[in-house]
Amino acid sequence: MKRRWHTRQTTFRQLEILLAVAERRSVTAAAEALHLAQPTVSTQVARLAEAVGSPLFEHVGRQMHLTEVGAEVAQAARSLFDVLDGLEMRLAQRAGLEVGRLRIAVVTTAKYLIPRWLGSFCAQHPGITPELQIANRGEVIRRLQQNLDDLYVFSHPPHDLDIHAEPLTDNPLVMIAPTGHRLADRSGLNWGDLAGERLLMREEGSGTRHAVERFLAQQAWPLLDHVTIASTEAIKEAVAAGLGVGIVSRHALTHMAPGNIAELDLAGFPIPNSWYLVTLRGKQLSPAAQAFKQHVAAQLTDAAGHA
Ligand code: PGA
Repeated sequence: MKRRWHTRQTTFRQLEILLAVAERRSVTAAAEALHLAQPTVSTQVARLAEAVGSPLFEHVGRQMHLTEVGAEVAQAARSLFDVLDGLEMRLAQRAGLEVGRLRIAVVTTAKYLIPRWLGSFCAQHPGITPELQIANRGEVIRRLQQNLDDLYVFSHPPHDLDIHAEPLTDNPLVMIAPTGHRLADRSGLNWGDLAGERLLMREEGSGTRHAVERFLAQQAWPLLDHVTIASTEAIKEAVAAGLGVGIVSRHALTHMAPGNIAELDLAGFPIPNSWYLVTLRGKQLSPAAQAFKQHVAAQLTDAAGHA
């Protein structure tokens, strides 16, 4: 029988640890995600590097990046886990059970949408363990490229990947100002009325920022003097505190203390925007992911019935 070096020297757990460190570029973050002690993670990475005979990571500043060899090992580990996930799925189907993990990655605005559906879904399917990642569009695209999750939610799905995108529901983007602002109670405002205001913008890589820039370019309206704040929650707080005006998902406002913030009545707004449920074309969806898609469709039909 063929003797394989890796069956003697390498464990699945080490490969899982390698992927966790590669994904987060940090031992600390990987240890946290895997509920392991930091030294355990470092030791297992070192053992794997020893078995492979070459360093797997290099430090760039405070971040850990895969070496070329590390990237090869990570790619092999991903394929291996894909095969094993497929096996897990087939075994679950064979047993007629709805068990397993459901991995969803969503852009930050969708945190006002998905957890509610996930809550009702998990109540009906207690055998399924959900993992929800929330990040900006750029980061969720990176996860999609690496095939890290079962389902994704975007407002602006990438055009250059082979994906299937199903519209979910509207995600209008509104202009907000603090209550008591000179423009807060006026109706029929135009973009020009905002001259002199400071716009609080999301960071590069954000889908909200992408939508705002695209909309302004389409309208040929100039960008206001702006500062970058990398979180919708922080933009809401900063607007309420008078730092400037901001453009956020209207859904983000339902979680605001009432009375702090006003939506401006501005021509062209809200910027029309929608969420999409995205899957990689050709990826075999797990029973859990298929069941969640059906759950979402049922919730949407229900909501349409009540509208
Ligand atoms: P993001 O998400 O701004 O955090 O990327 C927004 C979106 O695309 O809706």
